[in-house]
This record gives sequence, structure tokens and C-alpha cells, in this order.
Amino acid sequence: EKIYVGVDLGGTNIKVGICDEQGNLLHTYEGPTGVENGPEAVLDRIVQYVKQIVSDSTYQWEQVAGVGAGIAGFIDLATGTVLWAPNLKWKDIAVKQELESRLGLPVALDNDANVAALGEAWSGAGAGLNHIVAFTLGTGVGGGIIINGKIYQGFRGMAGELGHIKVVPDLEAIQCGCGQLGCVETVSSATGIIRSAKDAVERGETTTLSLNETITAKDVFDAAKDGDEVAIRIVKRAAYYLGKAMAAVAVVLNPQRFVIGGGVSRAGDILFDEIRKVYAQNVPEVFTQGVDIVPAKLGNDAGVVGAAGLNLR
Ligand code: BGC
Ligand code: NA
Ligand code: ZN
Repeated sequence: EKIYVGVDLGGTNIKVGICDEQGNLLHTYEGPTGVENGPEAVLDRIVQYVKQIVSDSTYQWEQVAGVGAGIAGFIDLATGTVLWAPNLKWKDIAVKQELESRLGLPVALDNDANVAALGEAWSGAGAGLNHIVAFTLGTGVGGGIIINGKIYQGFRGMAGELGHIKVVPDLEAIQCGCGQLGCVETVSSATGIIRSAKDAVERGETTTLSLNETITAKDVFDAAKDGDEVAIRIVKRAAYYLGKAMAAVAVVLNPQRFVIGGGVSRAGDILFDEIRKVYAQNVPEVFTQGVDIVPAKLGNDAGVVGAAGLNLR
């Protein structure tokens, strides 16, 4: 019996998982990425976690058919090189080659949000549908386009960078990690939400939010649910620009379903109601018919499931 190992390399955490041949997730393990230690240390950590999860399982190393990794950044799929990963601060890292030589196994790479979309398409919120687009709202805003069950790669493998759709008008735009101004990621990621909260507190607005280093996006959602007007405005603004970005995607790809995952998506109805409203206000009506916007189903597991599955495609 073969097993498939998936690695989800995010800006904050590395998650690894073991799947069987049917894509059932059997074990997971998660630890900090330690971005501050640089790429070599992060690669070592991935190898350590992969070996760890296999040895903690009932399987043997010999049963591992392949390792797949989803990485938060722009990847050249022809060479397996991470060209640029803004949130990891990596440039031109030969990840496929490095991991293969450290692990002695074939390694397949793809963008973190692409693999999360693939996971959702297989056994999550997009199961059974041919055209889905997934957004992952976390440290950054990721995107994945699934057409007929496959990731749409584009020229070099960088299709689906939906977080860098520019939606914020220049006058209120701030710079994104990618270097551009006004990307949806600047407003709708956890990082963007926290920044908005800090700005509001610094401006002296009346809010229950307080300025401290440990403030999280979840604190902002909780405050919004408790009726804090500033927090509500911040969450609605995040939803507004996401809805605008989705409307732009809709007229290009006409997906049947938008799947929204990542930590920020746990904000629930306050976020989803607004996204659905703004989306509908920004597309020709036919793009709302038979189209829905739903939360991801695999939650935090979508990335590892999709990554494990990269070796099956
Ligand atoms: C990166 C994407 C990534 C996303 C989510 C963005 O900043 O450009 O490659 O998928 O963050 O991690
Ligand atoms: Na992507
Ligand atoms: Zn950007």
C-alpha cells in the first residue's frame, strides 16, 4: 500500500499530512515555519516534519510514493524553483531539487492556494464540480483556479494569483508585498485586517479594539460580532474588495462555485453575507445564476490534501 505525503508551507506554519491512494487524510502534523531563520532552515524543517510524520505513523518510509508541497509564492513549475515568495521573503530558491536531494524521493511543487483549491475540488466544497475558483484568506490572499478537476497553471505556473488583483482605488491604496499598489491582499488578508485595526486605533477612533502587538484578525471579527462599529467597517471593507475581485474573476472564468477558505473565512456570516452582496452588485445578473459562494470544507487541511494529491495527477 502506497501513501502520499503533502506539505503545506505557509508564511506562519508548516503543515504535513499523509494521505492514502483515495485521498483520505490519515495523519497530520504542524509546526512553525520559522521564516526568520531563512530558506535553508525552513527546508530542513520540512524534511524533519516529513520524516517525523511517517515514523509516527504505522507506515514505512518505503511506502511513500511521493511528496507534494504547496508553497506560498510564485513558482516556476518547469524548474521547480520558487521565483518569489513575498510572505516568506524567498527569491530564486530551487525547492524541488533541494527537497528531492534531502528526502531521496520525487517532490512535486505547486502554489499553496492552488493545492488548497485542488484539495477542495477533490473532497471538499468543490467536489463533483468542474469549474471552481478558490480564495484562501490567511497571511496573504491566495487563489486557485480548477478547470475540469485540474489546476489551471498558466505560462510558468503562476496563474491564479488572485490576491494580487488590484481593486483598491489609487488614492486609498497601500503597497502590497508583491510591490504593487492596492491588491485585494492588502485589505482582505489577516495581515490587512490587522493593519486596518491598528490604523483605526491610532487615528483615535472609538472602538473596543486595542492597540497591542498580539491583536489578531479573529479579535477584529469577535469585536464585529459584538457590534463594534469600527470592527464591522473593517470586516465589511475586506468583504467588499473580495467581492469586487471575485466579480472580476467571474467575467473571465465563469466558475460555478467560489470556495473561500483560510483562517479569515472563519469570520462566518458577517463576511460571507457582504461578499455575496457585493459580488452580485458587480456582475451582470447572468453571472449570479447557478453560481454560489461557499466556505471551504476541508478547513486547514485543504492544502495538505491537495499537496499530497499532486503526485496522483
Ligand atoms: C502569494 C501567493 C500565495 C498567497 C497565500 C500571496 O501573497 O503571492 O502565492 O498563494 O499569498 O499564501
Ligand atoms: Na494560486
Ligand atoms: Zn500584490
